[in-house]
Amino acid sequence: MRRLFPVTDMTARETAAEGAGEAREWSLDELADAYVYPELPAGGSWLRANMVSSLDGAGQHDGRSQPLSSETDMRIFGTLRALADVVVVGAETVRLEGYRPARAREAFAARRADAGQGPAPVIAVVSASLNLDFSLPLFTAPLVPTLVLTGAAAPADRVAAARAAGAEVLVAGDGAGVEPVRARAVLAERGLRRQLTEGGPRLLGQFVAADALDELCLTVSPTMTAGSAQRIAGGPSVAVPTRFAVASVLERDGFLFTRYRRI
Ligand SMILES: NC(=O)c1ccc[n+]([C@@H]2O[C@H](COP(=O)([O-])OP(=O)(O)OC[C@H]3O[C@@H](n4cnc5c(N)ncnc54)[C@H](OP(=O)(O)O)[C@@H]3O)[C@@H](O)[C@H]2O)c1
Repeated sequence: MRRLFPVTDMTARETAAEGAGEAREWSLDELADAYVYPELPAGGSWLRANMVSSLDGAGQHDGRSQPLSSETDMRIFGTLRALADVVVVGAETVRLEGYRPARAREAFAARRADAGQGPAPVIAVVSASLNLDFSLPLFTAPLVPTLVLTGAAAPADRVAAARAAGAEVLVAGDGAGVEPVRARAVLAERGLRRQLTEGGPRLLGQFVAADALDELCLTVSPTMTAGSAQRIAGGPSVAVPTRFAVASVLERDGFLFTRYRRI
């Protein structure tokens, strides 16, 4: 792994070492240090997204993001999960990607305990229809109960099915859908303040449109897919493009692991 930005004396030394053929994978501890959440004011929350995109802007290939990913990308994916209080995910990603509950990882156990976090992040699934398979381990066998975020008008029988499976249903919208800013607040009120969303694009687009995304951890995959795959954020476009500033760029095997913060 090489740090390309910000450039420091350490970067220069690392780069020299890479040039000398001493490239090495970073430890999980080093990755966790690199991606640590900012200090939050009392009651504050921070929402980061973690997404992968091909060079030509595809956010998935054949309905999954895995073909765009790499081993290091998955290590960072796991690290970002391990740093989060809650992982917010759209229902379609759960349906298409065979989403599983987050697991407790020994490598992060001490760090999570020091931060006052439980053994694994809570998964919060965003859905209006609640048309989810509640017999999945995500709902029946998580380490910490899975949350379902929905609107006040969610179908009562599906709410009952979610609860019967062991999920907790939280209302974060007056109609059928979830209001992005309210979702953040509902989670923060429960102490889930270090928030991570893993998309998908339709959900991420709504956080962007509501100006509710603080940080984007974007993996630029050195691949081209052509075709008409979704980009990493969809839905109606914003009136004025939201500006982000680059916070860091890491590189491994041609993949760029970028981190941008909203200005
Ligand atoms: N490139 C990446 O990093 C990345 C990351 C994640 C996923 N993906 C890919 O993206 C694809 C799926 O993404 P997607 O954009 O189609 O779907 P998505 O964002 O994962 O999920 C959309 C669903 O989420 C629920 N939803 C979204 N906004 C809502 C709101 N405001 N209120 C209530 N429910 C809401 C709805 O569920 P209901 O229909 O249940 O109401 C909606 O159908 C997959 O192919 C996956 O592989 C890529």
